[in-house]
Amino acid sequence: MKVLITGADGQLGTDLCIALKKHELVPLTIRDGDIADLNFVRGQALKYRPDVIINTASFVRVDDCEDQRELAFRVNSLGARNAALAAQEIHAKLVHISTDYVFGCEDVPRSTPYLEADEPAPCNAYGASKQDGDSHVRALCGDHVIVRSSALFGTAGAMGKGGNFVETMLKLAKEKPELRVVNDQVFSPTYTRDLADKIGQIIETDFKGIIHVTNSGACSWYEFAVEILRQAGLKTPVTPITSAQFPQKAIRPRYSVLGHGVLHQLGMDDLRPWQEALADYLIKKGHISG
Ligand SMILES: NC(=O)c1ccc[n+]([C@@H]2O[C@H](COP(=O)([O-])OP(=O)(O)OC[C@H]3O[C@@H](n4cnc5c(N)ncnc54)[C@H](OP(=O)(O)O)[C@@H]3O)[C@@H](O)[C@H]2O)c1
Repeated sequence: MKVLITGADGQLGTDLCIALKKHELVPLTIRDGDIADLNFVRGQALKYRPDVIINTASFVRVDDCEDQRELAFRVNSLGARNAALAAQEIHAKLVHISTDYVFGCEDVPRSTPYLEADEPAPCNAYGASKQDGDSHVRALCGDHVIVRSSALFGTAGAMGKGGNFVETMLKLAKEKPELRVVNDQVFSPTYTRDLADKIGQIIETDFKGIIHVTNSGACSWYEFAVEILRQAGLKTPVTPITSAQFPQKAIRPRYSVLGHGVLHQLGMDDLRPWQEALADYLIKKGHISG
């Protein structure tokens, strides 16, 4: 298959290029053009005529999305609309990457994993812009797959974010006498290598619709930090704090674990537990030896 990947130098885009290397790849980055420019996106689709377009291009800095709401909607909503229109025009499958942050602000607080069919209720501008993008994809492209994932860490790091949570914790643990980390937001950390492999399997099926793909298990940022330091052999103490003690511009979901109902319906295996994926990541990055 010919597969066009947007955001190809991002965390997930980089690992997609590795996981899908048996296919003919067209990797596009922001230096090739802007996903929010319909002429650019259509032009690339018509030039390369891929069988599959995977749209990972996104404005992912959650707090900055609050101040730059217009930019967030341009990239995350208009960009998704453009990818959907282009895919539909050339009869390609569109795999669009979305997020657990489309959930989290329901009237009744959630404590069980979200299902693919659950109604989105985003807490912040990033989540709202991604939800808007998902709606365009569903409305405009018949052959679409919306992959929702969460808390990504990948060896390339998210350039827009200047790294990822794992790297931030390792750096701070070496610089500071103590870390204070939020313990009241629960989610499933996900290694982009594992996510990319699963997307590789999904594009070989006829599945259309929304699918949740995360590593197995769930934790808070505090629990994630404790495990990162434990595996890296760092002894810096970590203290759990509340979201109220660590104010951020964007409100975050208290719980955004994604259930894997559709993955199971398709007869596909769960991804490995996030702790095993983290160990693999730390080895690949050279933080620990294998
Ligand atoms: N990161 C997470 O924790 C997380 C969680 C759940 C879902 N997701 C979703 O997963 C996908 C991939 O995320 P990621 O962590 O791999 O992010 P990433 O590393 O920041 O990759 C996103 C890519 O999109 C590019 N991009 C930004 N604006 C663009 C534009 N206007 N036109 C074209 N390209 C543009 C970025 O380029 P620059 O870096 O040069 O700006 C980057 O290469 C996104 O759809 C995101 O919403 C992420």
